[in-house]
Amino acid sequence: MKILAIETSCDDTSIAITDNYEVIAMKIHSQIEEHQKFGGIVPELASRLHSETIFSLINITLLDADVEFKDIDAIAVTQGPGLTNALQVGITVAKTLSHMLNKPLYGINHLEAHAYSAFINTIPSIEEAIVLIASGGHTILALKKGSDLKVIGETKDDSVGEAFDKVAKIFGLPYPGGPIIDEIYNKYPGIKPFPVPIPKMNNLNFSYSGMKSFLLNNSKKPNINKHSLIRGFQESAINQLLLNTEKAIKSYNINNIIIGGGVTANSFLRKKLSSKSEWNVFMPKKLYTNDNAAMIAYLCFLKIQNKKQDLNNLKFDANPRMKLGN
Ligand code: KG4
Ligand code: ZN
Repeated sequence: MKILAIETSCDDTSIAITDNYEVIAMKIHSQIEEHQKFGGIVPELASRLHSETIFSLINITLLDADVEFKDIDAIAVTQGPGLTNALQVGITVAKTLSHMLNKPLYGINHLEAHAYSAFINTIPSIEEAIVLIASGGHTILALKKGSDLKVIGETKDDSVGEAFDKVAKIFGLPYPGGPIIDEIYNKYPGIKPFPVPIPKMNNLNFSYSGMKSFLLNNSKKPNINKHSLIRGFQESAINQLLLNTEKAIKSYNINNIIIGGGVTANSFLRKKLSSKSEWNVFMPKKLYTNDNAAMIAYLCFLKIQNKKQDLNNLKFDANPRMKLGN
């Protein structure tokens, strides 16, 4: 079964074509350079750039896959969460394709797609797991039982990716902050990480706004080593994710861990998780950590197989605040 998927929830336009579990082609057009001029995402610009790019990206992806429209069996599109108008560009194009080609249309939850991105190109094998989604918009721990995902912890303020982006801004580094902070972390292995306090939470929730303020206050101090502060931030931000994941593993007595989302590209996180031989960790390939349409097509195929979802109508709309578990 061939699925054409569209992802336009934020600042990446992405198209993918999958055949059952396998990705046959995927293209991502990043808008980062355009948004960098403004120091962050400008929603109005994002939707305008999606409409500019989407049709040529669909054509390039079809060419790359050596597939024609007549070979496509279903259309998948990100329904939410994300920026309303950006989502609507993808949904309108998806509805049009579905209508013209007379093929079913499926609306896919972006967060759920991140939760399955570790399995792309394979048959997902595990029933029970603790799932960590760490991205620019979300920081969530969820309990997976079969195809059900239940949120068991989430951030009470900023997401971890947002914290990376805001801390980068404090030091005049470009958006998105995660990759550049990670690069600086690895470039200066000899510089001792500054001790950045991790907030104490009694449950499985996260908090990142205090860490960001700590960085802001300390960045203004004279003679402060900026690389030490940045290194300390990366370790504490990631350690907070790991501490809660470990708590969840203990309280639910499950040692399968699935991760997904832009922040799971982080080298310190991946290294720490790889060293946990007692945990059974499923990580997405780096290519599938950031927003991409392959994860949308892949989850759509799993849903069709499980007969779990049928949004085979042209009436559904963007759901900018879509939750995990809906
Ligand atoms: O999943 P994603 O592409 O978009 C959302 O759904 O939000 O995540 C983007 C986020 C940004 O905040 C970016 O700074 C962060 O992922 N990110 C990283 C790294 N690469 C991207 N954060 C930490 N370390 C990285 N290597
Ligand atoms: Zn995402």
